[in-house]
Amino acid sequence: MSQPALTSNNLDAFWMPFTANRQFKKNPRLFVGAEGMYYKTADGRDVLDGTAGLWCCNAGHARPRITEAVQRQIAELDYAPAFQMGHPHAFELAARLSALMPSPLDHVFFTNSGSESVETALKMAIAYHRVRGDGARTRLIGRERGYHGVNFGGISVGGIVSNRKMFGTLLGGVDHLPHTHDLSRNAYSRGQPESGAEYAEELIRLIQLHDASTIAAVIVEPVAGSTGVLIPPKGYLKRLREICDQHGILLIFDEVITGFGRLGSPFAVEHFDVTPDLVTTAKGITNGVIPMGAVFCSRDVHEAFMTGPEHLIEFFHGYTYSGHPVACAAALGTLDTYEEEGLLTRAAELDGYWADALHSLRGTRHVIDIRNIGLIGAIELEPIAGEPTKRAFNAFLKAYEAGVLIRTTGDIIALSPPLIIETAQIDQLVDTIKTVLESLD
Ligand SMILES: Cc1ncc(COP(=O)(O)O)c(C=O)c1O
Repeated sequence: MSQPALTSNNLDAFWMPFTANRQFKKNPRLFVGAEGMYYKTADGRDVLDGTAGLWCCNAGHARPRITEAVQRQIAELDYAPAFQMGHPHAFELAARLSALMPSPLDHVFFTNSGSESVETALKMAIAYHRVRGDGARTRLIGRERGYHGVNFGGISVGGIVSNRKMFGTLLGGVDHLPHTHDLSRNAYSRGQPESGAEYAEELIRLIQLHDASTIAAVIVEPVAGSTGVLIPPKGYLKRLREICDQHGILLIFDEVITGFGRLGSPFAVEHFDVTPDLVTTAKGITNGVIPMGAVFCSRDVHEAFMTGPEHLIEFFHGYTYSGHPVACAAALGTLDTYEEEGLLTRAAELDGYWADALHSLRGTRHVIDIRNIGLIGAIELEPIAGEPTKRAFNAFLKAYEAGVLIRTTGDIIALSPPLIIETAQIDQLVDTIKTVLESLD
């Protein structure tokens, strides 16, 4: 396909998401191709993908199994109605996905994004209590610095002030746990920090405040990604599970970034050996190729809805594109790729090399913390006084010029490369970041 000519004029119409639009359009960064671990820029350079796109291209780019599956599916069945009709690949995919997830998380509801997965899970949780005759349980508990997408439910349980403050009163009946990020005790942790399991006890405080009989669910990311890689202290997630169990509260894990191999097991559920009632996923489900999300729910949650006359709809929720045939084909091709190449456990094999490489940056200019888990890393920088986020953003711009794509959030560099990364590419990533940081004011 020929490249469209770019003038400042035709950059104007597209209002870009989560982007400094005016800054970008003065000096655009455009990708026009991608293969394996590298993007190709409009000016012909190769850029190493240190972020798997947006945490989604876990198998790297232009993977033939996925491309071929998508091409075949479009020609065979482009669309089938999602309500009261079906097509075989959606059922095949749900069965394969549930086989990857530990029991009893064996039912799957399809969506088109992480944000939609979150809305779906929150609605499922509230409706679950209601169909069981416990309709006073409507309250939702999220966590400070949580990111659960951008729809109203997600920003309400989410804990990022800039994502919330512009949008009015949000959902009522929501409260938040404190985040667990504690550099005074846990700086430079490799893997899970030793201190901080007691942050889970804050849930007891919220239960005492609101009463368990009003609380439907607690939602957390097992590892918070978008707010700069906040890794759960040892014992924290297990304790949340225990408290939820004691009080009849559903536990939702938002695995939109931890799902599909990021931690060295198919899901964080296995990595932390904690089984929630609902799990939200998206991104890596199709390797980022076609938008898709999926919510896993436990047998108990599913069974609660399967009552009443059989001709009636059990859950009044769904999307025109839930289980879209082309997305299902992409997901099946993705699962084939993950399985054939052992990618869902590859992060565990790379863990030692990855951790050593990242922590070798200790002592580099501006660095105040380094943390890692699975194939995720974060390098936290000392902010420029009075200009938070600027130093990290400058690092992002310089790294891009130097041929490496990183992601920054606040003054934190977050890394999550495709799971196919080789050790020489880990070295390239880390060496480039070192050079960039040493050159920054
Ligand atoms: C944990 C988590 N939940 C939800 C989302 C939202 O996903 P999407 O952008 O596909 O709506 C994200 C996206 O980064 C995420 O990291």
